[in-house]
Amino acid sequence: MRRPLIAPSLLAADFTRLGEEITALEALGVDWLHCDIMDGVFVPNLSFGLPVLEAIRQVTTLPLDVHLMIIHPERYLEAFAQAGADVLTFHWEATPHADRLVQEIHRLGKKAGIALNPATPVEVLQDILPEVDLVCVMSVNPGFGGQRFIPYVAAKVQRLAELRARCRAHALIEVDGGITSETAAWVPQADVLVAGQGLVRAADRAQALQALRLPPSTPA
Ligand code: DX5
Ligand code: ZN
Repeated sequence: MRRPLIAPSLLAADFTRLGEEITALEALGVDWLHCDIMDGVFVPNLSFGLPVLEAIRQVTTLPLDVHLMIIHPERYLEAFAQAGADVLTFHWEATPHADRLVQEIHRLGKKAGIALNPATPVEVLQDILPEVDLVCVMSVNPGFGGQRFIPYVAAKVQRLAELRARCRAHALIEVDGGITSETAAWVPQADVLVAGQGLVRAADRAQALQALRLPPSTPA
């Protein structure tokens, strides 16, 4: 039975009680914690950076899935690795040197992810796919939580799963943005679902988590 990993986006947490929020999410049984790093240049918003990631690392043993929405990601890979990232994902659109960055992340002993903006076709990854551990398919334009899932991204996720099978690659397919129990069913090929508004801000987080994990064909 399909059971995607669930990675709540901490961007949707109550920052005045971040430690308690993380403890509560961990107790709920989430799989990873998704940490959105925004620089106000690559995306039109700022979030948090290294000191906050270090603090998060101190209060959890869950894998930290670090989504770098920053220009010049090569400048910060080592610092984010040291701060406690387990998965380091940079944007395809933020560098002409994706291969070099993947190699560098592996040299740092971390899992390497590449994120694609909604308008970037998955086919750009056809050669490098066997080298990466994760592909983060953005289902909203990066920069803000709480946006609506862009419907055409569902077809991209399907094409990525086909490409992965053709290249006999093993990269995890992560879908990030606007994920709810409804939109999760549009991307049954996802191995990792990121959810901010749809999980962290849900009135009943336990119920939201269960709904995200249900296979799309299973009646609720
Ligand atoms: C968007 C971020 C997402 C976002 C997800 O720039 O990369 O991870 O926090 O939040 P929701 O689930 O609310 O769209
Ligand atoms: Zn993200």
